[in-house]
Amino acid sequence: MMARTILVLNAKGGCGKSTLATNLAGYYANRGKRVVLADFDPQGSSTDWLEARPEQAAPIHGVAAWREPLRLPRETEIVIMDSPAGIHGRDLAALLRRAETVVIPILPSPIDIRAASHFIDHLKETRRVINHQVRLATVANRVREHTLIAAELDDFLDHQRLADSRKLPFVAVLRASQNYLRAARRGLSIFEMAPAATAIDREHFRPLLRWLGSARSRP
Ligand SMILES: Nc1ncnc2c1ncn2[C@@H]1O[C@H](COP(=O)(O)OP(=O)(O)O)[C@@H](O)[C@H]1O
Ligand SMILES: [Mg+2]
Repeated sequence: MMARTILVLNAKGGCGKSTLATNLAGYYANRGKRVVLADFDPQGSSTDWLEARPEQAAPIHGVAAWREPLRLPRETEIVIMDSPAGIHGRDLAALLRRAETVVIPILPSPIDIRAASHFIDHLKETRRVINHQVRLATVANRVREHTLIAAELDDFLDHQRLADSRKLPFVAVLRASQNYLRAARRGLSIFEMAPAATAIDREHFRPLLRWLGSARSRP
């Protein structure tokens, strides 16, 4: 069986790619899936996270894919790919070729919204997207509710379209939460932290997980 391949992507740094990648990896590992976390960023945030991961936590196979070939262990079910900032052109095309699903985290800030607008325009021109070989979705990340900029990001993401006026799905809003920092420090996902303390964040992840589990996220 072919592994499910999910790429977390945005040319902007600091928008939550590694946070999303590690939390997705932790989520699926906890569901008993055989997960590979492939880190394409030479900064190695996902790789560092795996190094901090406790031995008794659900296993995740890490690959430092920026410096070694991405070989999947037999029977890998899910591949989560973390990507570097500044990605474009041929490097972007090469990453897209490995993915069937792309998740784009975006922060509520004017600079991040403008950068995302350019990046989405760039993505629309890629062959994989034009040929419907990947499915994309956006996620608002680190959102403080009831702020003007949160509403602006919401409005922006609600209106993004791909070529031939297909809607670019906007699938989840993740709040700004210390839980991501606490979990990251320990090499865990929020799904491996005390349920009561992380209930709201898990709830916010759910529409993303539902989309990833549905046929809509596959080409
Ligand atoms: N929803 C969130 N709430 C609070 N902090 C967050 C959230 N998402 C990301 N962060 C923090 O923001 C910083 C940048 O996130 P990171 O995932 O490393 O971004 P990227 O990989 O895109 O550069 C990190 O310190 C991370 O812990
Ligand atoms: Mg990162």
